[in-house]
Amino acid sequence: MLSCVFFDLWVQSKPLFRQTKSIFSLISNIEVGLQPEICGIMYSITFKFEQKGLEPITLTGIEPDQSILEVALKNDIELHHNCGGVCACSTCHLYVEKGEDFLEELSDKEEDFIDRAVNPRLNSRLGCQCVLQEGDGEVFVTLPDQTQFLGE
Ligand code: FES
Repeated sequence: MLSCVFFDLWVQSKPLFRQTKSIFSLISNIEVGLQPEICGIMYSITFKFEQKGLEPITLTGIEPDQSILEVALKNDIELHHNCGGVCACSTCHLYVEKGEDFLEELSDKEEDFIDRAVNPRLNSRLGCQCVLQEGDGEVFVTLPDQTQFLGE
């Protein structure tokens, strides 16, 4: 654990080595048998809402390898997902305000469906395709008003 803490401190001043940090953290955890949350390799995600009357929600201790859609649904945050999260609709459309580098890259297929979303912007993504990569950090997203969508 000491090696993990030391390395985290060193890497904090070198953001370009985030991927290296992730690999080292995982190796460290395996070596000493620690769970990721002990070493701090978890995400925090703040959800803001365009729907009137909804206050922002910040979730902490979010593990990687899950999509923003999955995180939202597990935490009772409404985000439509008519195709079931397979990149075949655009109802899980959201805006990534911060932390895009922590997410799986935008694919051509996702871009096609974003073009069909309501009010797409430069920071538009599909929640089901925003899979958190290995690592840790802060992600901020804004969800469009969900009352404008029918379905799941
Ligand atoms: Fe259909 Fe994400 S749920 S594209």
